[in-house]
Amino acid sequence: MYNVILGTGSAAPDNVVTNHDLEKIMDTNDEWIVQRTGIKSRHIALPGEKFSDFAVPAAQQALARSGLVAADLDMILAGTMTPDQLMPSGACTVQALLGADKATAMDICAACSGFIYGLSIADKYLKCDPSLNILVIGGEIVSHHLDWDDRTTAVLFGDAVGAAVVGARETGHRLLAVETGSNGNLGDLLYIEGTGSKTPVTKDFDIDNNYIKMRGREIFKHAIKNMVEVSNRALASAGKTVDQVTKIIPHQANMRIIEMLAKQFKKPMDEVFVNIDRYGNTSAGTIPVALNEAANSDFLEPGDLVLMTVFGGGLTWAAAVIEW
Ligand code: UT7
Repeated sequence: MYNVILGTGSAAPDNVVTNHDLEKIMDTNDEWIVQRTGIKSRHIALPGEKFSDFAVPAAQQALARSGLVAADLDMILAGTMTPDQLMPSGACTVQALLGADKATAMDICAACSGFIYGLSIADKYLKCDPSLNILVIGGEIVSHHLDWDDRTTAVLFGDAVGAAVVGARETGHRLLAVETGSNGNLGDLLYIEGTGSKTPVTKDFDIDNNYIKMRGREIFKHAIKNMVEVSNRALASAGKTVDQVTKIIPHQANMRIIEMLAKQFKKPMDEVFVNIDRYGNTSAGTIPVALNEAANSDFLEPGDLVLMTVFGGGLTWAAAVIEW
């Protein structure tokens, strides 16, 4: 028996905001955004739209493609920093809406790395109990934390959620290794100050504390270094070398980071999955949304050795190796 990806799904708000739309509300332009990031448009939730509105359809697609129903789920892990509410967790909200009555549900707060962190936990649970069916979700409604007056962050992010069901089977898309890492000493490079216990909501709450703050250039350097390191670690633990990798599904934070990763791993760009142009950076959503689109297009072929790698606030980073 191997731990395998049984099925994937994803969903995003219908509302699409282009760079040209942003030009009308802030001092930016399509040329800068495309050249510096590769982003052309992103999905942005409308008022009232929330995490579970997209996590539930993503999970339902993943279940249907797995040949399972919600009642078969033993565990739901949601990598998100933007659940519907602080309590209950996003995973518990999704559990109720799916009707996954026997599942244990919890969130993983690892910013962009939430989905692969979830895969890592699922992988280890399955090694203890191969009978489990585990739903791993990753994604955000990050737009609620964007300051539309801050062009250095507002143009970068978007909303989307992806999901995968994992279980132990004799055949399938085999999860060979998952590795993770973090460095809390660098937490101030990418953060949201409120609404935790340090800066709670009071009647004097400064709305600025609700917004994502990022030191982009510094994050850029750490992103490349740590994604390369954790990818090499995941490949070593899978007993594979980078030469054997045939497809890469990287975090979609910046096209220049994606291209530098491809260069580091000596891979042509047609072996690297890219959808940043249509989604922007959806934080914990980038990897599962990309995995779902790669799985349901001709990008992934049977026998591919797939490397997925991610990086985000915390700082956190992770990589997974899958034999497709
Ligand atoms: O998912 C979590 C991980 N996140 C990441 O990995 C993000 C990593 N960082 C990045 O992707 C890039 O650093 C950014 C895309 C955030 C920024 O790109 P950059 O090439 O590092 O630009 P910069 O911040 O150094 O800014 C260069 C110039 C500045 O103008 P001056 O000071 O040179 O006159 C900015 O004010 O670009 C200006 N600028 C903009 N111009 C037009 C910054 N944002 C914009 C904008 N439109 N939206």
